[in-house]
Amino acid sequence: MALRLVMLGPPGAGKGTQARRLQEEYGSPQISTGDMLRDAVEADTELGRQAAHAMQNGGLVSDDVVIGIVAERLRELKRVKGDGGFILDGFPRTAAQAKALDTLLAGRGEQLDAVIAITVPRERLIERLAGRLVCRQCGAMYHKKFDPPPPDGRCGRCGGRLYQREDDREISVSHRLEVYARETAPLIDYYRQAGVLREVDGDGARDEVLGRIRTGLA
Ligand code: AP5
Ligand code: MG
Repeated sequence: MALRLVMLGPPGAGKGTQARRLQEEYGSPQISTGDMLRDAVEADTELGRQAAHAMQNGGLVSDDVVIGIVAERLRELKRVKGDGGFILDGFPRTAAQAKALDTLLAGRGEQLDAVIAITVPRERLIERLAGRLVCRQCGAMYHKKFDPPPPDGRCGRCGGRLYQREDDREISVSHRLEVYARETAPLIDYYRQAGVLREVDGDGARDEVLGRIRTGLA
């Protein structure tokens, strides 16, 4: 089944964790703007140079830049896979991005199946971000306390090195949470009015949360 999904939620809500699982289960590819931008920063491309400053401080990269990379990725996926499915993780994040996505999909004669809005209490978000570890090679996510990596400190899937994201430092985290509340949280109402919103309690074990998302999609 080709799903057209948006994962919405504050930093640390579990968008990436659940998007990866949904990708395995439904076959629709995850499109994470955060991952794409971090890859560009790492590779020191023109895009990466434009994005680096905002990302480091927990601010937003400009709408034009992000809309451009998502449009390009969606075009490419449609060409390669054909069925038009996707799981957007971290996009849209502003009213302008949401409108651009609507226009883009309308131009293809498509619409979103659902927007999964994951809610998690603030103190839990902070705890999740402070302990997050990411594999540099395959992107697998770990948590020092909730999902510890193997004792050798390497990725259990591919043996890659694990690192802590630069924007998971305390000062960037509080800024990211503010930016979310101001710029992105209003999209919950936008999608509720469009009739595609599915609110999911993200506080609980990973499998439990996945089960709630499945129920929301049924
Ligand atoms: P992005 O990478 O999208 O970061 P984010 O939105 O802040 O979200 P995170 O990736 O931090 O959290 P997540 O919800 O994916 O949680 P995760 O699954 O990792 O964006 C980074 C930056 O890029 C932005 O700040 C901005 O600068 C820029 N950017 C990106 N998109 C943009 C856009 N559209 N427009 C403009 N700028 C943009 O989980 C977190 C941790 O919790 C992990 O350790 C995980 O193992 C653990 N965990 C997950 N689920 C559970 C659970 N159920 N129980 C216990 N632990 C759990
Ligand atoms: Mg993420």
